[in-house]
Amino acid sequence: QEDQFKKVLSHAKEYGYVFQSSEIYDGLSAVYDYAQNGVELKKNIRDYWWKAMVQMHENIVGIDAAILMHPTTWKASGHVDAFNDPLIDNKDSKKRYRADVLIEDYCAKIEGKINKEVDKAAKRFGDAFDKEEFLATNGRVVGYQEKIKSILARMGKSLANEDLADVKLLIEELEIADPLTGSKNWTEVKQFNLMFGTKIGASAENSTQVYLRPETAQGIFVNFLNVQKTGRMKIPFGIAQTGKAFRNEIVARQFIFRMREFEQMEMQYFVKPGTQKEWYESWKETRLKWHLSLGMGAENYRFHDHDKLAHYADAASDIEFNFPFGFKELEGIHSRTDFDLKAHEEHSGKKLQYFDHEENKSYTPYVVETSIGLDRMFLAVFSNSLVDEELENGSTRTVLKLPAVLAPFKAAIFPLVKKDGLPEVAKEIMEDLKWDFNVFYDEKDAVGKRYRRQDAAGTPFCITVDHDSLNDKCVTIRHRDSMEQKRVAIADLKEIIKAEVSV
Ligand code: GAP
Repeated sequence: QEDQFKKVLSHAKEYGYVFQSSEIYDGLSAVYDYAQNGVELKKNIRDYWWKAMVQMHENIVGIDAAILMHPTTWKASGHVDAFNDPLIDNKDSKKRYRADVLIEDYCAKIEGKINKEVDKAAKRFGDAFDKEEFLATNGRVVGYQEKIKSILARMGKSLANEDLADVKLLIEELEIADPLTGSKNWTEVKQFNLMFGTKIGASAENSTQVYLRPETAQGIFVNFLNVQKTGRMKIPFGIAQTGKAFRNEIVARQFIFRMREFEQMEMQYFVKPGTQKEWYESWKETRLKWHLSLGMGAENYRFHDHDKLAHYADAASDIEFNFPFGFKELEGIHSRTDFDLKAHEEHSGKKLQYFDHEENKSYTPYVVETSIGLDRMFLAVFSNSLVDEELENGSTRTVLKLPAVLAPFKAAIFPLVKKDGLPEVAKEIMEDLKWDFNVFYDEKDAVGKRYRRQDAAGTPFCITVDHDSLNDKCVTIRHRDSMEQKRVAIADLKEIIKAEVSV
């Protein structure tokens, strides 16, 4: 798995998908640039989402709110007070960690011990082994479970009460060591707000503290009534948005999985109070279906329903994807109650209510949100598509089997040789197809080499113009995944490609 992740990183760079930001200055941690192919893949994912969410739902409309918002927004949303990570430094290594992650990792180690006991017993008892019974009755295992429970309960309570001294005490009592150096010499735990601040205004005295939005959702909440009135929207209805969000992430690792500047695709669905559970379940299913429609394997997705809920939620679930480093959150579906609209009403003094003509009364709608990271989706698609394939003749090829609808270029066009009028025909085909698709022209190197390059870049079709093409007005079209080659009329190319790459 680690090898696959390394391959993903180097392939993304080599084939013009993702570069480190400001690489010539050795990069900026957890910030990345999308390159010539990456920008197309990212756009196609965004469009695929937009089409499914906005174009296909008559009752969902889009907006594009600004990144900078009135600072009271973040007071109302709870981000100023509660969007924190508890951090601890190791005095010897000078490394900084999230205190809660250190404690959770410690519990995961105990969990590992439980699994070992289960495996041992399963071997010993064979068919007669009853896992549930074993977990409930084996003294040692029950002890481990209780230990985990009491650690997490104490941590949860300490963090909820902002009792950070107790979080440190817990780390000391458990003798948790710096994972890198083994040192147990810790500083105090401090809360660290994840929002990036900046200033509006030229002079120090007159400037106002503002923030780069840590989620796009708030731009939708503050515009709720504007959109509802001007769009004459009737509940239930949704507002969708894609755009940049910023978080000063501390544990910033795993490439574009966790970034400081990233893009979200969010939809807030406004519903009648009391119906939120139904809509929550319904959006969970709808969103999973969207993922499955890309054909990346049902076994690579699972739901993770949350027990521990954020202050605004009455239910929450993640769609997890099998990334090269295991199952991790890809998208969140949250039942956010009326928390946000009520908070904005309170802080702005403006009513944010909906008048329900059927019920003949006003109320504050409840909200079910679907929120997916575009960059994370990019990583899911990219890493899942990258395969090394063994061919019948014993050689191997690297293929990026992107879903055709998402591929940056739909076809590459090659003249077999760089003479005899073949480039002219190839360019004519390119000029015709480029009205409908992104197409790529290449006349360098042997055709076999050009095929391999396009396989690795993820292009679903290669079209080769040869000497016969001059007479029969036909070309060879080669399919990326099957490597099958067919002779087809130039006039039919558009339909053949369209059949494969459209939704
Ligand atoms: N409005 C709800 C919200 O922002 P979230 O779970 O904090 O919820 C939603 O974020 C999604 O945004 C996540 O499921 C993930 O895909 C993406 N995301 C969050 N933080 C990210 C980061 N630092 N880098 C990349 N994607 C991130």
